[in-house]
Amino acid sequence: MGEAVTVSVENGIAIVTIANPPVNALGHSVRSGLDKAADRIDSDVDIRAAIIRADGSTFPAGADIGEFPNVPQPFHGDVFDKIEALPKPVIAAIHGTTLGGGLELAMACHYRVAADDSKMGLPEVQLGLLPGARGTQRLPRLIGAEAALGMMLSGKPIAAKKALDAGLVDKIVPQAELDAAAIEMATALMAKDGPLPRASQDSNWTEKDRADPQLFDRVRETHGRSFRGVIAPNAILTCVKAAVELPFEQGVEVESSEFERLLASDQSRALIHVFYAMRETAKVPGIGKETPLVDIKSVGIIGAGTMGGGIAMCFANAGIPVKLVEVKQDALDRGLGVIRKNYENTAKKGRLTDDQVESLMDSITGTLAMEDLSDVDLVIEAVFESMEIKEKVFTRLDAIAKPGAILASNTSFLDIDHIAAMTKRPEMVLGLHFFSPANVMPLLEVVRGEKSSDSVIATGMKLGKTLRKTPVLARVCDGFIANRLMFPYMVASQNMLLRGTPMQEIDAVMRQYGFAMGPIALLDLIGLDVITFPGETTMTGELVKAERRGQKLNGGFYDYDEKRRGTPSPAALDIIDKVRQANGVEAAPPLSPDEILTGLLYPVVNEGAKILEEGIALRAGDIDVTAILGYNWPSYQGGPMCWADIHGLPKIVAGLEKMGIEPSALLAEKAASGGSFT
Ligand code: CAA
Repeated sequence: MGEAVTVSVENGIAIVTIANPPVNALGHSVRSGLDKAADRIDSDVDIRAAIIRADGSTFPAGADIGEFPNVPQPFHGDVFDKIEALPKPVIAAIHGTTLGGGLELAMACHYRVAADDSKMGLPEVQLGLLPGARGTQRLPRLIGAEAALGMMLSGKPIAAKKALDAGLVDKIVPQAELDAAAIEMATALMAKDGPLPRASQDSNWTEKDRADPQLFDRVRETHGRSFRGVIAPNAILTCVKAAVELPFEQGVEVESSEFERLLASDQSRALIHVFYAMRETAKVPGIGKETPLVDIKSVGIIGAGTMGGGIAMCFANAGIPVKLVEVKQDALDRGLGVIRKNYENTAKKGRLTDDQVESLMDSITGTLAMEDLSDVDLVIEAVFESMEIKEKVFTRLDAIAKPGAILASNTSFLDIDHIAAMTKRPEMVLGLHFFSPANVMPLLEVVRGEKSSDSVIATGMKLGKTLRKTPVLARVCDGFIANRLMFPYMVASQNMLLRGTPMQEIDAVMRQYGFAMGPIALLDLIGLDVITFPGETTMTGELVKAERRGQKLNGGFYDYDEKRRGTPSPAALDIIDKVRQANGVEAAPPLSPDEILTGLLYPVVNEGAKILEEGIALRAGDIDVTAILGYNWPSYQGGPMCWADIHGLPKIVAGLEKMGIEPSALLAEKAASGGSFT
C-alpha cells in the first residue's frame, strides 16, 4: 500500500487515512492507495465498516493538477466507483476545503460527516475543466440538478451548514469531534442491515428534475455570464442533462468524453498555467522564510487623491492604522469624504455595518503635517506623477521618518532608483504600485530598486498577501511590467483608428477575445484627460481640447446614452479625420478581425519578451498575472505569454516582421529553437 494512504483496523472499523501534504491532492500514490484500501475493506472479513479521513489541514482539495493534461491512471472515477460498490458502509470524514476530486470521493462514500467549519466545492470550471470523477453525475442525484449546477458553474465552495441543508452531507460536528463522530456513526451502521445509500442509484432528484422542463433554461439565465467565451460551462450542462435523463453508467460515458475533450483544450491549458502562475509570483529567488521582515504596524500615506485614498482603504481593511497626509485642508477633507462615501456605499449593499464603517474611518487619521509620519513603519507616497515633486517629498520624508522605516512610491512609471537617491536610506526604498481603484484591484507590483534590501523586498511581497493582493516583483523601467506591457496595445489601437479601422470593430474584436471592453472604450472609461498631457496634438489631446473627456464628461470616442451604451461619435470621427490629415497619415482599408487581433496582441507579446529578456519580470507567468489582474486580460487565454505559446511563436515573429516591428531577441530565439515562454 502506498504510504500516502494507510489503513488501521479498530473494532471492526477500517480507518483509511490520506496523508499527502500540503492539500492531500489525489495524486497517483493516493489513488492507488485508495484502490488497495477498497480491496482490503472488501476482502477482510474482520472489517465491517470503513472511514475515509485525511491528515493535515484538509480532506483532499482535488485531483493533482500537476498530472494534467494526461488522463491520470488509475482514474479517480474508477477508484471512487469501487468504493461506492463496497458491500460495507463507508463514511467520509470531511474537514478543511474539500474540493474537486476530494468532494467526488466523499460523494462516492455512503455517508458523509463534516466539520462545521469546512467548505465543499467543485471548482474545476476555474481550470477550464468539469468534475470528471463522476461529480457531474453524483452531485445532481444528491442535491438536485439546479443546486448542483450552481456549484459547478460558479466553482465556488459552499459552507458545511449549507451542504447539510442541501443534503450533501448527513451530519456536521465541531472539527475536534470529527473522528469520534465518524467512529460513532460507523459503529451504529455496523449494527444495521439493509441496503447502503449509493448516490449513483438515487433517483429521487432525477425524477423531480425530469418533471421540470424549464430547469436548464432557468440555469442558463441565472448563470449566463459564466458562459461567456468559455467552453467548460456548456460541457457541464451537457453532463448534468445526461445525469437527469440517462442511467448513471451512460451519464458517466458522457462525462468522460466531455472531460477528456476539455482536458485537451487550450482553455484548460491556459487556466492551469494561471493557477500555478498566481501561486508562483510570491516566490523570489534568494528570498526565503529566513529573510527578516520589517513589522508593519502603522502606515503613512502622502496624498489623499484617488490613489492615496484607495491605498489607505486597503490598509484600513487589513486592520493597519493609517495616517493620511495632504497639503491643504480642503484636499484632505475631500479625500476623507470620498473614503467615507465608498465605505457607506458598501454598507448600503449590506457588506459592512454602520459600526464597522465608523471603526474603519477611525483607523484613518488625516493630517496636514508630514512630521506626523515620524513614528510609522512604512510610508507610501501617492502624489502627482512629477519627479520634481517626488524629489522634494522623499528628501523631506527621509529626514522625518524613523530609522528602519520603509519609504515607498506608488509611481506608475518614474525611476525608483532616482527617487531612492534622494534619501540616505536607498536600501529602504521600493516601489509599491497599486492599480486603480486601489481598494478593489487585486494586483500589487513590488518594484525592486538597485539598492532595495532583501528584507524590504520580502516585506513588500508579504504586504501583498496582508492586503489580499497578488504581489508581483518588477525591476525598474518605464512603466514596470503591467503598464509597459500594455502600452504598445494602446498605441496600436490608436494607430488602427487613425488609419481608418472603425472603433467599434477594434473594440468588438477584443471583446470577442475575452476582454470586458476594447481598447478604445477603455480609454473613454479611464478618461481621456487622465492619459493626455496638456497641449498634446494626438487624437486624445484634440478630443480633450474639444471638451470630450470620455464617459464621465461629454463622451470621448463614443457618445453615451443614459445606460452608458456607446455609439461612435460623429464629432470624434471628425476630430480623428482632422488629426489624420494634420499628420499626413493616409487612410487605409479597414483591417480584418484577424488583422486587428494580431496587430494588437503581437506587439504586446514582443514587449513581454523584452520585459523578460531585460530581467524586469522574473518569469513569463508573472507577466501573465500582471496582465490578468491589472488589465483584466481574459484568464482563459492564459495572459499574453501563455497565449503566445499556444498561438505559435514562429507565427508571431513572422507577423511582427510583416508589421515592420523588430522581434525581441528572446522571442526570435525561442521561435527558432521551438521553445516556449510558459
Ligand atoms: N493539485 C496540485 N497541487 C495543488 C492543488 C491541487 N489540486 N491544490 C493546491 N495545490 C498546491 C499549490 O500549488 C500550492 O503549492 P506551492 O506551495 O508549491 O505553491 C500548495 O498546494 C498550497 O496551495 P495554496 O497556496 O493555494 O494554499 P491555500 O491554503 O491558499 O489554498 C486550496 C488551498 C483552497 C486547496 C487551493 O489551493 C485550491 O483552491 N486548490 C485547487 C483546488 C481545485 O481546483 N481542485 C480541483 C482540481 S481538478 C479535479 O479535481 C478534477 C477532477 O474532477 C478529477
